[in-house]
Amino acid sequence: MQDIVIKGATIIDGTGGVETQADIGIREGLIDAVGQVSAGHIEIDGTGLVLAPGLIDTHAHDDGAFLRHPDMTFKLSQGVTTVVSGNCGFSAIPADPAADRRQASGGILSGLGGDFTDLAGYFDAVLRGHPAINNMMLVGHNTIRSMTLSNPKAEPTLAELATMKDYVTQALEQGACGFSTGLIYHPGRYSETEEIIALARIAGDAGALYTTHMRNEGDHLLDAVEEALEIGREAQVHTHISHHKAAGPKNWGKVVASLNRIDDAIKTGQAVSLDVYPYTAGSGRMIEYFNLDRINRELAEVIRIASCPAFRQYEGCMLKDLAEAQQVDITDLVRDILTAPRGDATICIQFVIDEQDVIHNLKWPDMMVGSDGIPDLRGKPHPRLFGTFAKILGHYVRDEAIMPLPEAIRRMTSLPAATFGLTHRGMIKAGYHADLVLFDPKTIADQATYDEPQTLATGIESVIVNGKVAFTKGQHQNAGSGQMLRYRKTAHTNP
Ligand code: ZN
Ligand code: CU
Repeated sequence: MQDIVIKGATIIDGTGGVETQADIGIREGLIDAVGQVSAGHIEIDGTGLVLAPGLIDTHAHDDGAFLRHPDMTFKLSQGVTTVVSGNCGFSAIPADPAADRRQASGGILSGLGGDFTDLAGYFDAVLRGHPAINNMMLVGHNTIRSMTLSNPKAEPTLAELATMKDYVTQALEQGACGFSTGLIYHPGRYSETEEIIALARIAGDAGALYTTHMRNEGDHLLDAVEEALEIGREAQVHTHISHHKAAGPKNWGKVVASLNRIDDAIKTGQAVSLDVYPYTAGSGRMIEYFNLDRINRELAEVIRIASCPAFRQYEGCMLKDLAEAQQVDITDLVRDILTAPRGDATICIQFVIDEQDVIHNLKWPDMMVGSDGIPDLRGKPHPRLFGTFAKILGHYVRDEAIMPLPEAIRRMTSLPAATFGLTHRGMIKAGYHADLVLFDPKTIADQATYDEPQTLATGIESVIVNGKVAFTKGQHQNAGSGQMLRYRKTAHTNP
């Protein structure tokens, strides 16, 4: 007797190969049988639906969300069963319980708290809350740099560099899949390439990854790609470039040259991979994008406020509309927001990306998908948090025919599973973990918009996480079956 049987669905197994018809049996958290299966305690009718491996979000900032929102509805409801957190150089760990968590987490990891200091402690804390989905972690450069350096704008002393290396080593030993940077952010932006190479080499030696939000994604995109590739070569580490884009109208189209350069590096044998989010707006902590002495008017004109503790009434509004209504200069408005109490916690959405570049990125053969969602649910977050994966499957695959469905599934399952070391996940295969999504390819669609960003996707029938039905027919099942994954190892278990 199986725990769960799914009958009659069209199987897309994650390898990119053709669709097949088969029944699936699930037992003790694993896919037990594919083909003809016996009866199950729970039987799910998959007629007319597609069954695929659970989707993998390669770029998440869910470190704090796992503690604050263990239901993880914004990901689970899209069919996502695993996220990679700790991106852009910001991670929950290492942590100093006595320090202000918002400092080291850059203000984008909402929900951090607790008394953990390292990855094992963080995993224990998350598991106590019975998370709905799985998490794989990176250790972030900005976080370790702000914890270690007495002057974060300076170079580390040799002793400080040694401390930083110890943090990376410890996180990797405890199961992190790599080391991440966010080189446009404080304090990573003050680091020289040599510092990153020294730290990334530890990940390289462990066979893990170096992931990067590059130093520049606009005027100097191509220089930043060179730096990322140099770090990969020198540190002998697989380099993963996060949310590949060309920001700002005068840079649109540069993703073509950037991808060509990456193709050349791959041809020489260098390990490089990428992800993208399927939207023409980015999002982040507003204070990181402005120099208060010289406020960039052009950028301010395309910014919308996502969350703003100082002025809740601004959430969901474009700065240009607010400035017009108040009859103030837009640059003064930016200064007012950012210098208000807790103004530095403002999260904004900036419309700086060209749709053609999004499409060009998605057409690159091994492009993965990362939501880059910022899980601050108090305001109007970027819709990518709730919509990314349904938008790929509905809009880009079905409506725009950018790629065949099995290929899209491969890019969101077996490919990221292999890249990020998710052992026995990302395929529908006997013996693999039963992370699965059952959806209707005819109706799947993102419903999250900039005005109503917290709207669940449609077309997701059921989501199974580690053999438990976690979400079905629009209802969260509170299965709490998510696991804390360790790179190329079995999951972390509570002591
Ligand atoms: Zn980033
Ligand atoms: Cu990010």
